[in-house]
Formats: sequence, C-alpha cells, structure tokens
Amino acid sequence: MKEIKAVLKDSEIPKQWYNISVDLPTPLNPPLHPGTGEPLTPDLLEPIFPMSLIEQEVSSERFIDIPEEVLEKLLIWRPTPLVRAYRLEKALNTPAKIYYKNEGVSPPGSHKPNTAVAQAYYNKKAGVKRITTETGAGQWGSALSFACSLFGLECKVYMVKISYDQKPYRRLMMNTWGAECVPSPSNDTEAGRKILKEFPDSPGSLGIAISEAVEDAVSRDDTKYSLGSVLNHVLLHQTIVGQEAMKQMELFGDYPDIIIGCAGGGSNFAGLAFPFARDKINGKDIKIIACEPTSCPTMTKGPFVYDFGDTAQLTPLLPMHSLGHDFVPPPIHAGGLRYHGMAPLISQLIIDGIIEPRAIPQLESFEAGIMWARTEGSIPAPETNHAIAAVIQEAKKAAEEKKEKVILINWSGHGIIDMAAYDAFFSGKLTDYALPEEQIKEALAKIDALPKPKMGK
Ligand SMILES: Cc1ncc(COP(=O)(O)O)c(C=O)c1O
Repeated sequence: MKEIKAVLKDSEIPKQWYNISVDLPTPLNPPLHPGTGEPLTPDLLEPIFPMSLIEQEVSSERFIDIPEEVLEKLLIWRPTPLVRAYRLEKALNTPAKIYYKNEGVSPPGSHKPNTAVAQAYYNKKAGVKRITTETGAGQWGSALSFACSLFGLECKVYMVKISYDQKPYRRLMMNTWGAECVPSPSNDTEAGRKILKEFPDSPGSLGIAISEAVEDAVSRDDTKYSLGSVLNHVLLHQTIVGQEAMKQMELFGDYPDIIIGCAGGGSNFAGLAFPFARDKINGKDIKIIACEPTSCPTMTKGPFVYDFGDTAQLTPLLPMHSLGHDFVPPPIHAGGLRYHGMAPLISQLIIDGIIEPRAIPQLESFEAGIMWARTEGSIPAPETNHAIAAVIQEAKKAAEEKKEKVILINWSGHGIIDMAAYDAFFSGKLTDYALPEEQIKEALAKIDALPKPKMGK
C-alpha cells in the first residue's frame, strides 16, 4: 500500500518558532513613525500591542520558545497532515511529486489560528480584556474569535463590507465563538464615518478596516489591536507550519525543489516557506513562489517603498511592496488577497532574490481549485486556489521537461464557507481582471513623497 500522508505525533509538535529576520541576506529597513518619519521605537507601539508581541516583532533571537499554554491549544488540531496529492499528479500526467500541508483542518478552517492563539495568549497574559481586528474574507476574524473564546477575551471584528455581504456564514462563525462583527466601513469609528461620507457605497478594503480596528483599540484602555498577517511576529507564529513540513518531508524521504503559497499579507506563505528559505539562504537550490491575484498585484507591480499599512495613515510606515495605502482593490472573491501591501520580510526576500512573486488570473485560480476538488476531494478556499494554479503550472512544466520535481504547497484553507464564490464561477459571473497600468500609476503617485527604503546592505 502506498503511503499518502505523513502525520506527526502530538509530542513531535515544534516547540519553537523560527525568526528569519536574523538570517536575512539584507537586514530589514526599520519601520518609521507615521508622523515624524523617524525610525520607530518599540514603546510607541504599546497602545496597540502587548509588549511581549512588540519584543517578538523586533527580536534578534533565531528561535523563540512557544509557551506551553499556546502549544496546548495548538494541539487541538496540530500537527496538521502533510499529504501526497497522487490523484492530482495522475490527472496532470506529470512526473512531479506534489505534496500539500493541510492547514484547512483547524476549527476555523485555515492557517490563521496559528497566530490568533498565540496573540490571544499574550494579550490575556498582559491583562487585556478586549481585542479588535479587521478581516477580509473572514478567515482571520473567525480565527481570532475562536482564539479569544479559548482565552475568555472579548473580540470585535471589522469585516470588509464586500466580504461581509458575500460571506454571511463567516460572520455567524464569529458570533458562534462569541465575537461581535460589523461591516467596514462602519459608523462606529471616525475613519469609517469619513469614508462613508465620501463613498457611501464603498465595498471596503483591508486598509480601511485596519484603520477602524486600530482607532477602536487606541480609544479604550481595556482593548488592544491584533493583526492577522504582514507583521514579523505574525509570520513568526506561522513558522510552525514549515517546521512540521520539514519533518514530514523527511518521513517521505523527499525535499522540495519548489515551494508555493498564496500571499495576501504573506503569513501562510511565510509560515511554510521561511524554514526552507533559511536553507536557500545557506546555499540550497529551491524555487520559492508567492502567488497573488492579477487584480491586486502588490508584489509583481507594486514597487518596494515605505507605506502605511492602513488607509487612514494610523500605522507605522513599513518597507514593503505596495500599491499605495488608499488603493481599493476590485471586489474579487479571494477577499484575503485584497491587500495593498506585503509583509516587509517577504518584500525584502523578493528584493534579495530568495522569493519570486507570480500573479494568477481569477478564472485560472477557480479552474485550478475545481480540478483539485475533483481529484484530491477537499474544496479549497479561493485564496488557496491561487497557489494551486501555480502548482498546476509547475507540474505541467515538469511534464514538458520530463523532470521529477518535488513540489510542496501550503493548502491554506478550505472553501466550504466560500461556496457563493464557486456559484459565481459556475454561473459565469466571474471575470478576469488585470489592474490597468494607469490605475497603478495613479495609486502610486499618492505615495511618491514618502521616504524610500534602502534596497541593499
Ligand atoms: C485561506 C486563506 N489563505 C490565504 C490568506 C491570505 O493571507 P496571508 O497572506 O496572511 O496568509 C487568507 C486570508 O484571509 C485566507 O483566508
């Protein structure tokens, strides 16, 4: 009988997170104060995050211990299985071996609770009573709601309006775990009211929802803010994925030639890729591909600049690939990939040639997801479909070149709550949308005056 999956024992769960910032070929440009433009000191982030997370954000330790209380909660669904996609390989008639790390098995259905649980724990430990956040597709909001329920914390989620309307079941999941969820832009904050006054029909964006959640958090003493992607500490918490995958690939006796993930803010991609990227920095030959939609081409079309993480310019200036902080991406169905920026760690690794970005059209992504469902069974999230499309591209290339490439993908989440998106695809309502160059130029002109990061050492 063929072995199709590698499953680790509970006792084999990684006990530390891996901090790639120590191993970067070029050190990160520092975050800058949004008002003065000077490098940010950690204490300035204290109204927003607990100090323990700020310390992780700037840590120079290569490995950071995962607290026992966090491991205990992660064990509810971790270690996650690593599976060989034999059926997809056969359907593609490819000599490539395709492996996937199934992060869809968590209670909310994606990789997001890997950091949500850690962040809820550190907030609880710091005496915080309530956490605010934004959510795109609703995966992050539901993950944080789940984590807050585990630690007895209140949670308020500002959900991008287009997704709030498209995905009512995500909101109901949040409610089931005890959280409050409102569509963003909302009337609950100054930032939301301002946008609604100017654009009453705004579909919202992650940039706007972040402004609302941050404003809410800084206006109350009992509340802090939590971000589901982009920042160093979030990517750090996700590295448990790649460390498990390394052990599991060893059980198969394989090592990946190609690593693929979809990237909205970059967290699931980084979680799988960073432990392997360390090997690449140390000389291993691996292709590491981050996939994004052609409609929100942050990495492939956005320059490496200093930009705000949100629309109202409340966050620090981060060195990242960006389409401009007030860019509102078209209302595509992969809500979690509609973000104007990219994690600074990933942006820097693109500049350094360790990671290569790839843009995927919406229709190709759904065709890939449907092929996956009809071969491997599980229905992927629309975000995950982008990574699957790149897997199929690489597997076909391996077939043309007659090369037995080993491909590893982060299967970031299931799409069972996203069936409206599949419905739109089946009924021919989805279209491809490549962002026009004019629109990109217009968005970027607005951030032209901001400071520029250094490109090299
Ligand atoms: C299933 C899934 N995959 C990927 C993403 C993109 O986020 P990130 O780039 O932080 O992994 C999201 C975001 O909501 C998601 O829900």
